Amino acid sequence: MNRTLFMGTNLKMYKTSNETVAFLTELHELTRDIDRTRLTLFVIPSHTSLESARKCVPQSSIRLGAQNMHWEDEGQFTGEISPRMIKETGAEIIEIGHSERRHVMGETDEQENKKVLAALRHGFTALLCIGETKEQKELNISDEVLSMQLKIGLNGVQRKDIHRIWIAYEPVWAIGVNGTPASAEYAEEKHGVIKSVLKKMFGDEAAQIPVLYGGSVNPQNASGLIIKRNIDGLFVGRSAWQAPAFNSLIRQVMPLFKS
Ligand code: PGA
Repeated sequence: MNRTLFMGTNLKMYKTSNETVAFLTELHELTRDIDRTRLTLFVIPSHTSLESARKCVPQSSIRLGAQNMHWEDEGQFTGEISPRMIKETGAEIIEIGHSERRHVMGETDEQENKKVLAALRHGFTALLCIGETKEQKELNISDEVLSMQLKIGLNGVQRKDIHRIWIAYEPVWAIGVNGTPASAEYAEEKHGVIKSVLKKMFGDEAAQIPVLYGGSVNPQNASGLIIKRNIDGLFVGRSAWQAPAFNSLIRQVMPLFKS
């Protein structure tokens, strides 16, 4: 199989709409010479940025996603954002179940599953984020947790739709300012676990589902991660939020990635 490198960033609750436009415009300029058949580049800004974000850079250069979405088309859900609303912005990806949604906002696997199915129903790509907590790792139940998050999160997904599923493995203990990055060996092993669960669920075609690593990715650890066979890309936070830094990270790992 010919693999494409996936490189993306979630801007969390940091950049305003104007800041997002400036970031995307610069990232597009810096990376425009990179062959997009070898690189899938995506950015996930705040909901309020999505519409202007889509207008400032072409989809063929940078794909855009939303950080969260409600599963209902409409209804009495004050403060929520529906698939129809996101569709109008031109975003193509829905990030579902980021660790901060699960552990700060209290979302459950059942809710992530409703979001995955709603995203697919509306023609989006669903980027399901999974990962064990520090406590679960210490209890030696990481593999069971990952398996459960996949089996519940992707329950009811039909094989015809798996080309629109992406997975991000982001161990909770590795994310953010207080995180400790996972070693490349540990990440590779867990990516192997994830891929074998996906294969059991969807058969051989599951090999087309990209599994990205996220959690304190930085210029020091990115190369070691990307040379691993089961790591299809990197989902980066802090180290990608300045366009020149993200551009150099992409250029650092591209030659190391085995397609
Ligand atoms: P980080 O964020 O790279 O800043 O740890 C990763 C993430 O939350 O996806």
